[in-house]
Parts: sequence; C-alpha cells; structure tokens
Amino acid sequence: MPDHHRLIARYVATRNEPDAAAREAAIADLWTEDATYADPLALARGRDAVAAAMAAARARFPGLVYALDGRVDVHHDTARFAWRLGVPDGGRAIVAGTDIATFTGDGHLRDVRSFLDDIGSPTTPESETTMSTILVIGGTGKTGRRVIDRLTARGLDVRAGSRSADPAFDWENSATWGPALRDVHAVYITYYPDLAVPGASQVIAELTRLAVDSGVRRLVLLSGRGEEEAQACERIVAAAGVEWTVVRCSWFAQNFSENFLLEPVLAGEVALPNGDVPEPFIDVDDIADVAVAALTEDGHNGEIYELTGPRALSFAEAVAEIAEATGRPIRFVPVSPDEFTKAMSGEGLPPDLVEFLAYLFTAVLNGDNSSLGDGVQRALGREPRDFSDYVRATAATGIWNGTGA
Ligand SMILES: NC(=O)c1ccc[n+]([C@@H]2O[C@H](COP(=O)([O-])OP(=O)(O)OC[C@H]3O[C@@H](n4cnc5c(N)ncnc54)[C@H](OP(=O)(O)O)[C@@H]3O)[C@@H](O)[C@H]2O)c1
Repeated sequence: MPDHHRLIARYVATRNEPDAAAREAAIADLWTEDATYADPLALARGRDAVAAAMAAARARFPGLVYALDGRVDVHHDTARFAWRLGVPDGGRAIVAGTDIATFTGDGHLRDVRSFLDDIGSPTTPESETTMSTILVIGGTGKTGRRVIDRLTARGLDVRAGSRSADPAFDWENSATWGPALRDVHAVYITYYPDLAVPGASQVIAELTRLAVDSGVRRLVLLSGRGEEEAQACERIVAAAGVEWTVVRCSWFAQNFSENFLLEPVLAGEVALPNGDVPEPFIDVDDIADVAVAALTEDGHNGEIYELTGPRALSFAEAVAEIAEATGRPIRFVPVSPDEFTKAMSGEGLPPDLVEFLAYLFTAVLNGDNSSLGDGVQRALGREPRDFSDYVRATAATGIWNGTGA
C-alpha cells in the first residue's frame, strides 16, 4: 500500500477509536511509524499530526494520488472519510497531496480545495463539530416523544426516528437507517412493536452494527423485564463496543391512557387474564428522565437499570384506581387466556398482535416480575412516581372521560 494511503487509512482508524488511550496510541503510531512522515524532532497530535503529515506527504510524494471511488454512504470507513471531505452521494474524490478534488456522480469536477482547510482548528474535537445529534428512535412514541421534549428543552440537537420523520426511519426498511444516523453520536433505541417479537434480535444487531460504523458512540436501549428475547437484544447492544445503557422496564402505566388499554377503559370494561398478578407499573415520564440522563451524562455506561414503580398492584387494582379517580364505573373482568385470545380475534385484531398480547399477559405477566427494581433511584437519585400520581394527573386531563386530548 502506498505510504499516503496508509496515512489516510490510519487517520480514519484513529478518529474512530473510542478508547482515549488507544486513540492516543494510534495517533502516536500515525506519527512515528508511517514512512510518509518521520521527523523525530517534531511532535504533533490529532489533527495537527494529520495536517503535518499531509503537508509532508505532499512535499515528499507530490505525484501521488488517493482516490475514493464509487457509491458514498456512511457505512464504512472509506466512505465516511469521503463524506467528511464533502463527497456527494455517488460521487468521487481525489486527494493529491493536500488538495482534494471532488466529482459529481457523473464524473464532472465539483470543486478543488485544500485538505488542510477541511481539518479545521486543531483544538476542536470533531465529535463536537459534526457528530452532535442525538437520534431518538420511536420519537413519536410514548417514551420517545418525552425524551425529545426533554433534550430539546436543553437546547440539544435531536432527530426523531420514525416513519413520519424527515428523514424517515422505518424498522422494516434498513435503507432508511443510514440517513437517520448521519452526524449522530448517541441513539435512544425503542424497537417497535416489541423486542420480544421473533426476528427483533437480528434487526437490533443490524441497527447496532450500522450505528457504530456510522460513528455513534453511545447506545441507550429501552427493554422489557422478563422477556428472554429482549435480554438477547440487550446483550447485542452491550457487546457493540461503544458506551451503552439498558433501560429495562416493567409495564408502562401509560398503557391505560396512550395504548391498547385506553379503549377498554373508555368502554367501561377491562377484560384480561392474570388480572390478579401484581405488577409494579412504571410511569413513562420516569423512563424518559432516565433515558435522557443516560444519553447526555457520563456515569451510566454499562448499567442495566431495572425501572419499576414504587409498588406492585394488580391490573384489577389499577382499573379500580382509575375508576375511582374518574368517577366512572369501569369493571375489571377476569378471563382465561383462551377467552382473551378469542375476544381479541373477535375484535378484528391481526393474528400476530393477538398472539403477542396473549404472550404478554401469560408468559410475561406471570408473577416473576412483581418485584421492585431500583433503576430510577440508581440513575436519578430519586424515587419513581407512584401509580396513583399517574392516575390523578391523567384523570385531570379528561382523557378517561372522553374529553381530554
Ligand atoms: N408498553 C409497555 O408496557 C412496555 C414495557 C416495557 C418495554 N416496552 C418496550 O417499549 C418499546 C416501545 O413500545 P411502545 O408500545 O411503548 O410503543 P411506542 O414507543 O409508544 O410507539 C411506537 C413508536 O414506534 C414508531 N414505529 C412504529 N412502527 C415503526 C416502524 N415500522 N419503523 C419505525 N418506527 C416505527 C412509531 O412512530 P411512527 O408511527 O411515526 O413511525 C412510534 O414512535 C417496545 O420495544 C417494547 O418492548 C414496552
């Protein structure tokens, strides 16, 4: 490999090394080992080292050319390097010494400029200038939109990942993932419909790999308790080689007001199997607080936070609290898993969804997950909100009386 090729490859590898000590070592390596530039009296690091080495490369090898060819996307190092140079999608760049020529997809010269100009200020880390966005997948969902509200209120650069966002993100179309990940340094991953559905772990593995290849340095995964498949996804994220946090949650309190239990509550009858199994419902506002902390603060790397509310209550008791707060008669009706499945199918729900709900209300809601977690306390240093607080606040919106938003 020509020396200046090695120089650029090493520079790219150096930029992408997450570990600070290893990055320093790689920079030192770039400096001393590469035959393109070896001046034992000089010392430069990071961008300075690259700038100096590139200048030396031009002086010593004026005729050498480095070309970046073919389709440019953000999924591999060479392409990412090209992207940094401003090479358009499908375009081409030629680096000769420190001059960069970029071409349009059909081969026309777009512009020529100095690589040294692109390198910019030696004191500004690139992560602060270009990789500054936080991607919130499921950004229009129950936890995602609350996470976005909080990040936006802090003035942070946020992008929603959803089919209605621009650029659109669709779990079922991996071609949409790259544009959503562009310039992103941290991702909040909420998978839809659920990490427990078949195939979820392959999708999470693919997304995680792409995110890391695109330069993401921090992953925060929303997960569920008592789901082996979800725990497999957690292991994938934990093994990705970047900072990670798992936010492993009990059933959301907001399932009664923003999800599939709203309709039965409005109809005055909630019929479920295992209605007497205690569940420590978690308020999604607490989840959002923890996710934001994990996305924006140091100190949460490698943590699995088990998030629950401060007490366990059965679905029957939960429905009774809602009835009392709204002043409406809302009955809880215990049914067998079979009756539940038949009723759901009878309402025209798709078979996959019926099967999944049956799984949730039997295999997951089986009493194994009634214990309280301490994730909110550990992550935030405060107690989680009680189900009664959620009920009081939600009743006040009027949604359970059909008058709220
Ligand atoms: N609900 C619970 O009690 C509970 C408990 C523990 C863990 N969890 C976990 O929470 C996660 C989210 O579940 P949720 O029920 O609360 O959903 P949600 O986050 O409230 O809503 C779904 C979100 O996913 C997006 N979405 C739907 N289909 C999509 C697709 N094909 N591609 C991209 N985005 C899509 C929606 O946006 P668009 O429609 O705009 O695309 C929306 O932002 C699941 O992984 C689940 O395992 C839930």
